[in-house]
Amino acid sequence: MSEIATAEAGTRDAGETLTLRRPDDWHVHLRDGAMLRFVADMTARQFARAIVMPNLVPPVTTVAAAEAYRERILAALPEGRAFTPLMTAYLTDEIDPAEVARGFEAGVFTACKLYPANATTNSAFGVTDVRRIHPVLERMQAICMPLLIHGEVTSPEVDVFDREAVFIERILAPLLVDFPELKVVLEHITTSEAVQFVEAAGPKLGATVTAHHLRIDRNALFAGGLRPHAYCLPVAKRRQHKEALRKAATSGNPKFFLGTDTAPHARHDKESACGCAGIFSAPTALESYAQTFMEMDALERLEGFASEFGPRFYGLPLNRGTVTLRREAVKVPELMQWGELSLVPFQAGETLSWRFDESATTLA
Ligand code: NCD
Ligand code: ZN
Repeated sequence: MSEIATAEAGTRDAGETLTLRRPDDWHVHLRDGAMLRFVADMTARQFARAIVMPNLVPPVTTVAAAEAYRERILAALPEGRAFTPLMTAYLTDEIDPAEVARGFEAGVFTACKLYPANATTNSAFGVTDVRRIHPVLERMQAICMPLLIHGEVTSPEVDVFDREAVFIERILAPLLVDFPELKVVLEHITTSEAVQFVEAAGPKLGATVTAHHLRIDRNALFAGGLRPHAYCLPVAKRRQHKEALRKAATSGNPKFFLGTDTAPHARHDKESACGCAGIFSAPTALESYAQTFMEMDALERLEGFASEFGPRFYGLPLNRGTVTLRREAVKVPELMQWGELSLVPFQAGETLSWRFDESATTLA
């Protein structure tokens, strides 16, 4: 149903709009407490559903914790906002397969998230060895519950820029052999190795691609000085990897779909001697993806990537309703402030060429 319409003749860009089926975000960090109250609606205003990461402190490992978190998310949204948070279980070495299965069957958990221990923010309780969770993976495979993977090894001898490629070779490839029917999403891919691996794998493997990995390479971390707001995990790689991601995301291959990995941290936690990993892309996520698809001359493929391939992979219905972007210059704020909380969004201060027109969203 994607349409790119020029409403009126005249100057070439005047009135140009892009209307898409309502999209979903298949990877978000909504946080908790005061931060949740600010950031949840940044996602909910653009996306109908989102896969909510469970890396809170303590992590979401039980059905009761996921239900309570889902309630807090819904309570944080403005009245009448049509948004469905899809909850995930945080896998630990000790997690009980029966608890995971019970949550999935009750419609509380949509998927499980595998963080290798200490790979990223709040992953200290993550999995120390994938063999330890074979029983839960067995169970997930049997009930068709998706496994979402932060695909980086954590061994200190592996260079930080190689951690994804090494994970694919050492952990992911054997895991897919052990669990050939398990539905797996390799999250926030950053390398050409990941693109090739996902393309070559069977239909049970998909991948999310963030807005920021389509736009920045590792030079952004050092542009004129150290740039903490360009730092996330997996860290951005060389330009050739970004080019591979841009090609894959805009190719129309349904194995690649939208997942922003929007990961807000307070400004002072980013601008620090030990800055947190995470890029806050939710405020202009769709605008940013649209910019990339436009540059790749693939705007007609944005709807598949943003609104169709994800639900098809998860086996969920497509959304009804639409969102609209207008071809207008839009400046991303330098800083977003909410009470005591200051957040610097992705592309702060930059001018983008599509504006999300919230008032044009339709629900059915
Ligand atoms: C995420 C966070 O801050 O929770 N950070 C990030 O850089 N993406 C964790 C994660 O997804 O790795
Ligand atoms: Zn993430």
